[in-house]
Amino acid sequence: MNIAIVGHVDHGKSTLIGRLLYDSEALPEDKLAEIQKLLEEYKRRFEFAYFLDSFEEELREERTIDTTRVIFGRGEKLYTIVDVPGHKEFIKNMLTGASHAEAAILVVSALEGVEEQTRRHSFLLSLLGVKKLIVAVNKMDLVDFREERFSEVREEVRKILAPLGFGEVRFVPISAMEGDNVYRPSSRMSWYGGPTLIEALEELEPEEEGEKPLRFAVQDIYKIDSREVVVGRVESGILRRGEELVFRPSGACGRVESILFYPCELEEARAGDSIGLIAGCRPRRGDVGGHPRNPPSAVTRFLGEVVVLEGDLQEGDELEIKCGTRRARCEVFKLLERINSETGEVMERNPHKIEEGEAATLIFKTEPVVVERFSEIPELGRFVLARGGRNMGAGIVLSR
Ligand code: GTP
Ligand code: MG
Repeated sequence: MNIAIVGHVDHGKSTLIGRLLYDSEALPEDKLAEIQKLLEEYKRRFEFAYFLDSFEEELREERTIDTTRVIFGRGEKLYTIVDVPGHKEFIKNMLTGASHAEAAILVVSALEGVEEQTRRHSFLLSLLGVKKLIVAVNKMDLVDFREERFSEVREEVRKILAPLGFGEVRFVPISAMEGDNVYRPSSRMSWYGGPTLIEALEELEPEEEGEKPLRFAVQDIYKIDSREVVVGRVESGILRRGEELVFRPSGACGRVESILFYPCELEEARAGDSIGLIAGCRPRRGDVGGHPRNPPSAVTRFLGEVVVLEGDLQEGDELEIKCGTRRARCEVFKLLERINSETGEVMERNPHKIEEGEAATLIFKTEPVVVERFSEIPELGRFVLARGGRNMGAGIVLSR
């Protein structure tokens, strides 16, 4: 399971990650070996992805993610965690980080309580649909492990989470520095009867990848031994050998002869797998493949919600949208709402302009592009916006 770690500057994210790693070394030998193997595998897949990916920019993005990603675990369960730098200008990274995460740990210092980025990160998590959240009230050692202070901070945080649609959220009082309630129950907070942080993580169930429709995002096409190999990633659903596929927007179709997963071949590939396909057809980069019984469809207009991270946004602005492997030109067709990105509150209807740092709901006009409602297939329901080659915002698809 992927976990994003968020919170205000200096509230202790990096220290907590260090602690999670350090204490997880108490794992038995064979587990450690297993983690090592997984790491190698993971790295190899990454290298494979690099090899396959001709886009320099994407390479850079993946690298930043790679460097901040660590794996830890206990018993059977393993987690990868993404460290998100706390400063405002790094919210962008956080969006990339959080967009790969199924759950998040929000770190709040018991000394300082809720601060600007505590609010902002909570809103961004809710916008990106990361609804599984654990709040770690950190630095309990600095407030003498007092229960009243923990309760105060918990109420403060609950207030900001409530309007954002987070359901039941676990609050765990910890000291990342000294290790209290991270892996080891704290003897200094005997008033606390709940789970440790690692137990709270174990309580989160990973999403079932059940009957979701197949979506395969095409990254590139290679010619190997005079055969076309379609390289890409299964974003949702399951792709099996022998099945028919249709690709949009190009309209290409074919039948899956082989699924290549370096260095072997597979009978089926699942969400998250980067694979090569031999399917007797030649889709285009940015196409999305699916089954004819539930095919992807391309749109030229959709309703989205975005956060503006750089510059402002006005009707008529020409941008580039990046969704999955697709890059398409798009235009801000109609601004519907101006939204406070810290609270999610609607500040204005039919606004003329969205300022940097604010959020909005709006209608986009685009070149034909396959997007999905975020609530249905989040992998193709979130996107990054760029202007003049620079990422300037990110958002989700509300409806098509
Ligand atoms: P940025 O990456 O700058 O956003 O900060 P961060 O959230 O990663 O915080 P970091 O882990 O760097 O911790 C900030 C400071 O708080 C450091 O000096 C840590 O030593 C200290 N700190 C972190 N956790 C604890 C804790 O549980 N108790 C005490 N006393 N200090 C802590
Ligand atoms: Mg840090």
